[in-house]
Amino acid sequence: MCGIFGYINYLVEKDRKYILDTLVNGLSRLEYRGYDSAGLAVDGDKKKEVFAFKEVGKVAKLKALIEQEKPDLTKVFDNHAGIAHTRWATHGPPSRVNCHPHRSDSSWQFAVVHNGIITNYKELKVLLQSKGFQFETETDTEAIAKLAKYIYDEHPSIDFTTLTKAVIKELQGAFGLLMKSVHFPGEVVAARKGSPLVVGVRTEKKMKVDFVDVEFGDNEGALPAEQASQNVALRNKNSLLAPPDKSNLLHRSQSRAFLSDDGVPQPTEFFLSSDPSAIVEHTKKVLYLEDDDIAHIHEGQLNIHRVSKMDGTSNVRAIQTIEIELQEIMKGRFDHFMQKEIFEQPESIVNAMRGRLNAKEGTVTLGGLKQYMGTIRRCRRLIFIACGTSFHSCMAVRGAFEELTDIPISVELASDFLDRQAPVFRDDTCVFVSQSGETADSLMALRYCLERGALTVGIVNTVGSSISLMTHCGVHINAGPEIGVASTKAYTSQFVCMIMFALSLSEDRASKQKRRDDIMQGLSKISEQFKEILKMDQEIKEMCQKFKHQKSMLLLGRGAQHATALEGALKIKEISYLHCEAVMSGELKHGVLALVDESLPIVMILTRDDIFAKSLNAYQQVIARKGRPIVICNQDDKEFPGEKTDKIEVPYTVDVLQGLLNVIPLQLMAYWLAVGEGLNVDFPRNLAKSVTVE
Ligand code: F6R
Repeated sequence: MCGIFGYINYLVEKDRKYILDTLVNGLSRLEYRGYDSAGLAVDGDKKKEVFAFKEVGKVAKLKALIEQEKPDLTKVFDNHAGIAHTRWATHGPPSRVNCHPHRSDSSWQFAVVHNGIITNYKELKVLLQSKGFQFETETDTEAIAKLAKYIYDEHPSIDFTTLTKAVIKELQGAFGLLMKSVHFPGEVVAARKGSPLVVGVRTEKKMKVDFVDVEFGDNEGALPAEQASQNVALRNKNSLLAPPDKSNLLHRSQSRAFLSDDGVPQPTEFFLSSDPSAIVEHTKKVLYLEDDDIAHIHEGQLNIHRVSKMDGTSNVRAIQTIEIELQEIMKGRFDHFMQKEIFEQPESIVNAMRGRLNAKEGTVTLGGLKQYMGTIRRCRRLIFIACGTSFHSCMAVRGAFEELTDIPISVELASDFLDRQAPVFRDDTCVFVSQSGETADSLMALRYCLERGALTVGIVNTVGSSISLMTHCGVHINAGPEIGVASTKAYTSQFVCMIMFALSLSEDRASKQKRRDDIMQGLSKISEQFKEILKMDQEIKEMCQKFKHQKSMLLLGRGAQHATALEGALKIKEISYLHCEAVMSGELKHGVLALVDESLPIVMILTRDDIFAKSLNAYQQVIARKGRPIVICNQDDKEFPGEKTDKIEVPYTVDVLQGLLNVIPLQLMAYWLAVGEGLNVDFPRNLAKSVTVE
């Protein structure tokens, strides 16, 4: 939802300009995650001083504010910690005061940036108010900073990690957070529960270790007695704080110092971020934090501690090399990320199939599912669970799964699935489809299914994301970073990966061989067909002129093309703010037909499939009411003579793949409609890329 970024340099001299530029640049890379306000906190000119800058609006406005306030940019630091945030408002409207970082008090003893939601913040607020704290914002995050100060004031000799553990133990909800403090200069703690955090490391020398040992937080006896009693005392102080138990005991860090196998820290820079796209231009060496990890960066070292007791979590966190290239997160020759991502699809689709589909040999290999294929084939039901565009991709492949596997399929919106507390059984397979892998509704549904013993599969774009880590098995769709808030290439890559999943499940079914071969042949041609459709870009742009200043629009499709219509309508709504309704063609006559007249913009998806004749009925019904629909049809389809119909002709492919081709003109249409209205396609109002709140 929001984007957080931190930068820490140790034994590397950097002036304040560099530090501020690095933080602001990090935020601009994360801006797609939220863009209603931005802020940062860095060390001030005197010891125990913090400079904080906050501004409503996009990161560029924060940059302008910093320039206007003219901090001394020449001041040099060789040990400095800064934290930054770009916000998508959940608690409290966008305003300077509600903008992060949030502070414990007017002298900024503790500063916090946070992504997620603290569900018990009201209780914490009441508690802290009773202790004399005055709150200045409407946010949940402020309670974290104030809680840190409260605990620190009670235990002034506490170290930063122990303090953070004590804070975290009181928080309910989801968070990725960074905290800095004037009491721990040059240090940052990062904590994660349900919201992603990545640590990037850049050293002058070659890195010596490629892992970090994790310190588990409750090894009884490791705690110096004095500190244990302090902690227990803290917990006894107030009923809001959990009762003491053995697992609450804390102890000093024993963990191995990162990058210092000889015990001597090296000049090092650390970058902390909600996602690796903000880190890749500095370093490719990253470490993904897991839920309940606390990372403590101090004196060139990275130590990782666990909040909770031993739970089977591995005690190493590997340093990984990210494979994203800088140009993947830049717009390049395109005006918008969305446009770039639409045009990347001929390539991203190939990346989804690379090394997996061999159409010549008629094989599909999905390494991440191999071990579980037998179990999935025998499952009672396949339940697909997702939100938004990812939900539409599941809808689009439902028919293919039913046809190829004969397994009962249901497709569920994650939020509704949870609201209903739908029954889930041990012999169900639940498939979670998500671009970000962090969507709160989907994550909660995943936990729900795990608790009920179902097998869980992730179809995810973001490597290292919560859904990819928490599911038993899965497939990465390999679409590359998707930065445009409106999802495009993830949709087509999810679609293809799920079709490959269905092909894999049906590989032992003799009766399906011909059909499987046809689909595989179709898949092998899809990328070239995408390129053909993308050539119609200008034509579609011109076509969109006629929809200028319209208030409403209908998109009609039947069978699998209903999913295409749903996805097209969502794209149009979210970036052009034009109300667009997707209607199952068969339902037109049951009410919606009343809307049709000569002026209502209508797009009908009428590509050939075995229900084409029925889809034509809806077309006739629209024409009979003087409607003038734009038709998406197959090339040279004689049913729609050129002079009579506005049409977008797409190549022909196997029916179960046709939705892949049909959605592209709709993506382009959404794009040009929004551009035509002068809207900022990459930053639609009220939205953010990854929705980490319920
Ligand atoms: C629409 C869009 C959203 C997401 C939805 C789920 O363009 O991007 O509808 O599809 O928020 O997100 P993921 O796929 O990250 O779980």
